[in-house]
Amino acid sequence: MAGIPEHLLKRAQEARDKAAGKTPAADGATASPNVLVKVEEKKSVASAATPPPPPPPDPAYVVAANSRKKIPFWAMATLSLLPLWALLYVLAIRPQEKIVEGPLAVGAGVYGTCAGCHGAEGAGGAGRVLYQGEVLKTFPKIEDMLNFVYTGSQQYVSAGLKIYGNPDREGGAHAPLSYNGNPMPQQGEKYGGALSEAQILGVVCHERYVISGADPQSETWKAEYERWCAPGSEIFAGLESGSVNFDNLAETYAAMPEAPAHVGTDPRPTGK
Ligand code: HEC
Repeated sequence: MAGIPEHLLKRAQEARDKAAGKTPAADGATASPNVLVKVEEKKSVASAATPPPPPPPDPAYVVAANSRKKIPFWAMATLSLLPLWALLYVLAIRPQEKIVEGPLAVGAGVYGTCAGCHGAEGAGGAGRVLYQGEVLKTFPKIEDMLNFVYTGSQQYVSAGLKIYGNPDREGGAHAPLSYNGNPMPQQGEKYGGALSEAQILGVVCHERYVISGADPQSETWKAEYERWCAPGSEIFAGLESGSVNFDNLAETYAAMPEAPAHVGTDPRPTGK
């Protein structure tokens, strides 16, 4: 082929390509005869080949792997967010722990010492029934209940008091030692009891608002709740810090709207 000029070779090649249905190569480099021969060989092999034999069937474990359910791509994204979700969960529950601080949180803990006699739900036992509004009927005013829990039945008997709580109570006034003759044990420190005044307020709030079911939102209980039992109760904070006590809180907070009445640490008739 050495004697044939390049341009003739090229033209011949173009003619062959045209016959084979190919467009002429745009690039001169690919038009080199050696490359073209190779391309043609491949072409003829491909067109002449018999259809390839079917691939061998996949082994059972491959079939199983292919047909097995896979984790969808979006689930992977969701799962990878789990740590973030856990973090948000922890952050979300933290403020709630703060909300339950205050008298009701303290009272829920202290009530464990009352539950043995009054029942975990306040259904009664060795001690009187407290739930379903019962304790609210005996003590429409929280001050009288605080006084009774502080002093206990025995002090009332010793002071010659015939009843404790509301004298006009639905179902009759409660007399000390009228419940199977058992006394309500004194809780206040003055009589050897184990509870601080803040703890007594806490447990009394728990019995009124949780056990007996007074509704803090209702017209009847809203003011009392805010004053004594809400997490931000000024009276509770004062009792906790020791700046006031059951004997002087009425004077101390006399200027408060809906000022508290006297609580006292001596047995006394209701409302005195
Ligand atoms: C040893 C058993 C016992 C324990 C412990 C006890 N109580 Fe009592 N409680 C009684 C009895 C008995 C009465 C009835 C008193 C009476 O008839 O003089 C009573 C009455 C009461 C009443 C008046 C209920 C009513 O409607 O007449 C209140 C309020 C009360 N208890 C609160 C408490 C609180 C708060 C505690 C825990 C700090 C507590 N009790 C622990 C036995 C107990």
